[in-house]
Amino acid sequence: MTQTLLLLPGDGIGPEVASAAARIAEVVAPDLAIESDLVGGAAYDAHGTPLTDDTLARAHASDAVLMGAVGGPKWTDAPRDKRPEMGLLRLRKELDVFANLRPAFCFPALAAASSLKPHLVEGLDIMIVRELTGGVYFGEPRGIDTGPDGVRRGYETSIYTAPEIARVTRVAFEIARGRSGKMTSVEKSNVMESGLFWRQEVTAVHAAEGEGVALSHMLADACAMELVRDPTQFDVILAGNLFGDILSDAAAMLTGSIGMLPSASIGAPGRPGLFEPVHGSAPDIAGQGIANPCAAILSLEMALRWSLGRTEAANRVRDGVARALEGGARTRDLGGTLTTDGMCEAVLAAL
Ligand code: IPM
Ligand code: MG
Repeated sequence: MTQTLLLLPGDGIGPEVASAAARIAEVVAPDLAIESDLVGGAAYDAHGTPLTDDTLARAHASDAVLMGAVGGPKWTDAPRDKRPEMGLLRLRKELDVFANLRPAFCFPALAAASSLKPHLVEGLDIMIVRELTGGVYFGEPRGIDTGPDGVRRGYETSIYTAPEIARVTRVAFEIARGRSGKMTSVEKSNVMESGLFWRQEVTAVHAAEGEGVALSHMLADACAMELVRDPTQFDVILAGNLFGDILSDAAAMLTGSIGMLPSASIGAPGRPGLFEPVHGSAPDIAGQGIANPCAAILSLEMALRWSLGRTEAANRVRDGVARALEGGARTRDLGGTLTTDGMCEAVLAAL
């Protein structure tokens, strides 16, 4: 049966990098049916909502979803529940892709492009497992209103249930076992009840099912510090939605450029995963054709590996990007001069 990849290019540089990834897909997986639809601000402009029910149904029916990016200044004044980001959050929630895998991998050719000294990032290979469909991102109640004391306030709820923590912890265990076995769970158990509960639950799941995994715990602020002090001490980092969001941006920069980093969001086996570059829509460079397509191309690599069961094609993409970099291919964010198309051509040549 033909496998379907649903492309949701989105906004800003999203369409530029997504089309580069589609060109690579046509080469490494020529039998893959690639479909395309709108999400984010592009969908809001066309349909008045950042994610239509029809697009959501197509996502459910596909084998994998590859996103570009969403958002931009154009939609700052859109109604809050119709903002581009809401399309992405709804997609994550509805597809129930609760485990977000964010590798921070330093290609040897890029050690000098890191903001840290090369010897600190040489051999860097971290996998951040971020819980993606719970926590403070979705907790209720939330709002901006006037409290009973007549004082205006803004608030949300940081809440995790035991099953939510257990399922993402199991994914992290499985990934850790396929690597060094080392795993660091991150929270703020010193100040947050939900953080203390997170630590307790991860510890309990580890005691019952953590065979082969060396688990340690770290407070999120300390983890941020350690990530820039001595990043290669980490292998798998498990975090909730908000801390995972923040730490993955920091880890991304260690690798030379956020333009290099892909992500995979996966749920139950057999359900379509959602794959997206970690970088945003980068409105400042959108439309210029200079965005680094590597994060999108490597997100395709993760789709091939995690949702489509095409390990060989995935390895080919990964090696292709590595060889293009070794050959000196660099976009502007990496200190080079190549355009998006130029970088894509370099990867195609390396394939
Ligand atoms: C990310 C982004 C999103 C998030 C935004 C765009 C909603 O920062 O994927 O890291 O906060 O999850
Ligand atoms: Mg983020």
